[in-house]
Amino acid sequence: MQTTAVNFLKEFVTNPQKVGAITPSSEELAAALARSIEWERVRLAAEYGAGLGSITTAIIELIGDRDFFAIELNRVYANALTEQFPDLRVYRDSVANIETILAAHLAERTDETQLDAPTKIDAIVSSLPWANFSDELQDELLDATMRVLAPTGQFATFSYVHGLLLKSGLRFREKLERRFRTVSRSGVVWRSIPPAVVYHCER
Ligand SMILES: C[S@@+](CC[C@H](N)C(=O)[O-])C[C@H]1O[C@@H](n2cnc3c(N)ncnc32)[C@H](O)[C@@H]1O
Repeated sequence: MQTTAVNFLKEFVTNPQKVGAITPSSEELAAALARSIEWERVRLAAEYGAGLGSITTAIIELIGDRDFFAIELNRVYANALTEQFPDLRVYRDSVANIETILAAHLAERTDETQLDAPTKIDAIVSSLPWANFSDELQDELLDATMRVLAPTGQFATFSYVHGLLLKSGLRFREKLERRFRTVSRSGVVWRSIPPAVVYHCER
């Protein structure tokens, strides 16, 4: 097994609920998520739960010079991300604090010449393990997300296929539908362990 996969597995064993996957996301899943975003409408983007960076890599391939930052709760992963992507701003924090994180990011990035700099996030790509989260935590993180997402913002995430049938997975989909104007689901990405689908939501 590759070192990246071994390191990922080690953190999963320590904290399975939060990490939510036994291996990093596959290239196919990462590409499907990153390509679900219409990047020409984006000036500021964020990734939730960047882990060891598979999806980060796919986003960076498409994002050009748009402003982009990542959030990762796990210290080992966050340090590895900073090492792998020295130009990327990685916040070692919980998505629950996205409003504070965004304020800090804008303060860091905005100078007086950028009067029209964005104040909200145009696209959020998430690989948080939503189906592992309690009802309350799903609401807390989604409500915080809606407070920082631009009025025409996009939100993309994925669910493992088996998670679609879990009560927590069904509940998560309903929560998306209550908050977003449209929620579309991709076909199954079979080259993913386990197979997964991508949700793309438009505010
Ligand atoms: C399924 S893994 C992501 C895998 C990642 N796409 C990769 O390829 O390495 C989910 C990630 O979400 C992180 N996470 C869980 N809860 C979080 C939270 N509240 N805020 C930020 N990150 C969180 C975990 O530490 C884990 O790295």
